[in-house]
Amino acid sequence: MARLRVGVLISGRGSNLQALIDAAADPAFPAEIVLVVANQGDAGGLARARAVGIRTEIINHRAFNAKQGFEASIDATLRGAQIDLICLAGFMRILSPWFVERWRDRLINIHPSLLPAFKGLDTHQRVLAAGARFTGCTVHFVRPDVDDGPIIVQAVVPVMPGDTQEILAARVLGAEHRCYPLAVQLIAEGRVRIRDEQAVISGAGAPAEVVMFNPVG
Ligand code: GRF
Repeated sequence: MARLRVGVLISGRGSNLQALIDAAADPAFPAEIVLVVANQGDAGGLARARAVGIRTEIINHRAFNAKQGFEASIDATLRGAQIDLICLAGFMRILSPWFVERWRDRLINIHPSLLPAFKGLDTHQRVLAAGARFTGCTVHFVRPDVDDGPIIVQAVVPVMPGDTQEILAARVLGAEHRCYPLAVQLIAEGRVRIRDEQAVISGAGAPAEVVMFNPVG
């Protein structure tokens, strides 16, 4: 069966991109990464794609007077590459409703919190300031509101005493690298349907009854 054609949009180091590349290196994985688009020429993730021969494009938002032109260029590039699914992986531009609706249900994002909690930037700092015992990460379909949309995969990560932003971010990142390939796999297998703005996964087993209490104390 043909593999789902995935385009990844990045702005930075691209460790989630790397997780997707690694997963797709297995020929049994139902999706392939065919294109990486960065909005900055110095995005570290570009080298990760080039290292394995994945096509890269730099579309710099600063080269356009208006967001519409920037997004139209990204849209045309993705369509030209016959992309089926877009993964935002540390892409630091907010996409307009025009773009989001054009790719509705074919555009997903990863966010380093348990959405709908802690939307936006500086997530880990705010989790620590709130004294939360758990945080995590979320892969979701993108909607026009930032960090909003049907949730596909989440992972829970404990907050430990003495955690700094950096330590917590690293722990969450490890979970992100497992969640993103899983979400892409579920979509590529045709197992994700959106019903009443919730992502329903078919073939998922009955949930184990798991309750996690304070990670310490
Ligand atoms: C990740 O924490 C992701 O959740 C957030 O931006 C970060 C990107 O990291 N949206 P990387 O570029 O994938 O390493």
